[in-house]
Amino acid sequence: VRAVIGLRAKLRTKHSGHFGSTSGEKGKFGLTAIQIVRVVRKLGQVGMLDCLELLHFHIGSQIPSTALLSDGVTEAAQLYCELIRLGASKMKVIDIGGGLGIDYDGSKSGESDLSVAYSLEEYAAAVVESVRLVCDQKSVKHPVICSESGRAIVSHHSVLIFEAVSASQQHETPSDIEFSLESYSEEAQGDYENLYVAAKRGDHESCLLYVDQLKQRCVQEFKEGSLSIDQLAGVDGLCGWVVKAIGASDPVLTYNVNLSVFTSIPDFWGIDQLFPIVPIHRLEQRPVARGILSDLTCDSDGKIDKFIGGESSLPLHEMDNDGGCSEGRYYLGMFLGGAYEEALGGVHNLFGGPSVVRVLQSDGPLGFEVTRAVMGQSSADVLRAVQHEPELMIQTLKDRAEKAGGYEENGELVASCLDRSFNNMPYLSMETSANALTAAVSNLGVYYRDEAAAGGGKDGNGLISVD
Ligand SMILES: Cc1ncc(COP(=O)(O)O)c(C=O)c1O
Repeated sequence: VRAVIGLRAKLRTKHSGHFGSTSGEKGKFGLTAIQIVRVVRKLGQVGMLDCLELLHFHIGSQIPSTALLSDGVTEAAQLYCELIRLGASKMKVIDIGGGLGIDYDGSKSGESDLSVAYSLEEYAAAVVESVRLVCDQKSVKHPVICSESGRAIVSHHSVLIFEAVSASQQHETPSDIEFSLESYSEEAQGDYENLYVAAKRGDHESCLLYVDQLKQRCVQEFKEGSLSIDQLAGVDGLCGWVVKAIGASDPVLTYNVNLSVFTSIPDFWGIDQLFPIVPIHRLEQRPVARGILSDLTCDSDGKIDKFIGGESSLPLHEMDNDGGCSEGRYYLGMFLGGAYEEALGGVHNLFGGPSVVRVLQSDGPLGFEVTRAVMGQSSADVLRAVQHEPELMIQTLKDRAEKAGGYEENGELVASCLDRSFNNMPYLSMETSANALTAAVSNLGVYYRDEAAAGGGKDGNGLISVD
């Protein structure tokens, strides 16, 4: 058997963006000119130079412009021709690696990693033209050009859909918490008087100063044990109202979203990559609030506060004070995350990957069909992934419940609650059924064709029509 050999070259052309660390002289991958010459020499010595058929390079993701692309491809094409000149007469393929970029922010500019200044056609034309020019100049037969575009192929194929479960603001203005001045210390009453006078004067700056002073004093008194929690809450409520009344409250709300940023959008946290995020509900209504997204994990970095367009908050719809939304549940979509996100994510905070629903275009009345619905990892699955033994844990908990008494009447309920909490996904969930995902898909009123039950004959053509 004669091996087919390809070489990966380390090009000098340097991709300037974040992803350019794979390129240039200090790049991580590929053979230098010196190493290539040595390889060719060695292959010649062992009579295998005719096995060399392919030249590969990859200068990094999100190549910003066709100018840079042409520069890299030209260098590679010269290398290709040189290999032939050195005797690798069977060379036939140039593999241009990945790098075809995605227009994440819609700007179509090559100024940042978030976009690129070319279309697919322009990208292809730049590659072909650069290879052709060099090969014609060197009278070398045109090679087969092969590409390994990753993110350009898969980015659009996945949408992460997640629920905003509640929204909160920094300064609460409660109507159910009382503030009665008499019960506070003399000093706190003094701060209150100053605040009152400043408010009457319309001196907003002093108001904020006295709000701060009053709050700090009350916290100190609480720590000393001389202020009750009701009094502390009362003063917080009062200050919330004052801040709101003078228009100084931060209008940006925090929306709590049912995911882990680290599991589902790791590139946001790891390399500041931004993705388009928009509500997918209530699209007929203008979003009047602004919010940042805070995930449900215990990690303080688990929040999204940078968005496409340089925005530090997102236009969102208002949610009810008690969390939720009078108009039903409120879901958001994160788009273009098909490349690298889910594959990078682990089980941060024991939040495993999300449930997956596969949607295909179809001839059905809605133009699409759901062909697969697979629930994400259960709590038991993720516990197993971190080397615990969920079965043992369930049994231990059942034993303890039995010892605690009352098991005769409630044993069945306890057992089913335990089973359910281990079998459900670790995300915040109101659903009780393990088949909640399938039920949810059915409720959408779409065609559900279960790939897993191939030929299972739900009906003649394998489609279930759900009204
Ligand atoms: C060798 C190689 N080819 C192709 C790709 C895909 O790159 P992209 O997603 O930029 O198209 C990568 C990604 O790192 C790579 O290392």
